[in-house]
Amino acid sequence: MTLSSTLSVPSASAIPRHLAIIMDGNGRWATRSFLPRTAGHARGLQAVKRVVEACGQHGVEYLTLFAFSSENWRRPQEEVSLLMRLFVQTLEREIDKLSERGVRLRVIGDLDAFEPRLQDLILQAQERTAQNTTLHLTIAANYGGRWDILQATQHMLKAQPQLAAHPEKINEQSLAPYLSMAFAPEPDLFIRTGGEQRISNFLIWQLAYTELYFTDRYWPDINAQHLQEAFDWYATRERRFGRTSAQLSQP
Ligand code: FPP
Repeated sequence: MTLSSTLSVPSASAIPRHLAIIMDGNGRWATRSFLPRTAGHARGLQAVKRVVEACGQHGVEYLTLFAFSSENWRRPQEEVSLLMRLFVQTLEREIDKLSERGVRLRVIGDLDAFEPRLQDLILQAQERTAQNTTLHLTIAANYGGRWDILQATQHMLKAQPQLAAHPEKINEQSLAPYLSMAFAPEPDLFIRTGGEQRISNFLIWQLAYTELYFTDRYWPDINAQHLQEAFDWYATRERRFGRTSAQLSQP
């Protein structure tokens, strides 16, 4: 099991081991360029490729991207369809390249809502890359942090029904293995592009002690240099995990 930041003090290094990103601003990028919103998502995919490449070069081990929230179904039908097509095309066209680079792909979220073809492609891509270890790339799709905690609770109680009679025995360690990101350490750095400063129901359990970085830049504009700026900022953070500054400077 991975270490919990509330139960112990994780080690921290200059480069985040796990980076989580809300890729926001695709629509506004398109509007600013007098293009349909869907063009912003297509350009956003180019930024995903740049960031995956840069994370590989920096030695980031886990990269988790919020591609589609459980609330994004509320968007216009045309935009939702385009996003689904982009996911399908990306899985079809990019999986060989990702696999050659040692990327292990996972998709987290309530996948039942997706069309069967997309579900199949996701399963195939996950199986195909299951032995890779260089970069764990996780796409959150139809994902919500509250959904995650609820589904984890349901799975925990199904697996251990005796806990329902003894709820005082439920602790972090009983629930954590059932969360979608149980395979990864908690994110060290969270980036949200597009100027908003909120978590938007992303990894609400896992972000407890994550450093939060917000930039006004729109996601399709993001490149390796911008990622470097976020890493430079991260390297200046004093990660106390509840301790005092004085404690940190003690040998
Ligand atoms: C948020 O911008 C972005 C999304 C809801 C979709 C993100 C998708 C991609 C970057 C492309 C596909 C990615 C993969 C992994 C295949 P927004 O539309 O909310 O922007 P706005 O706030 O300016 O309207």
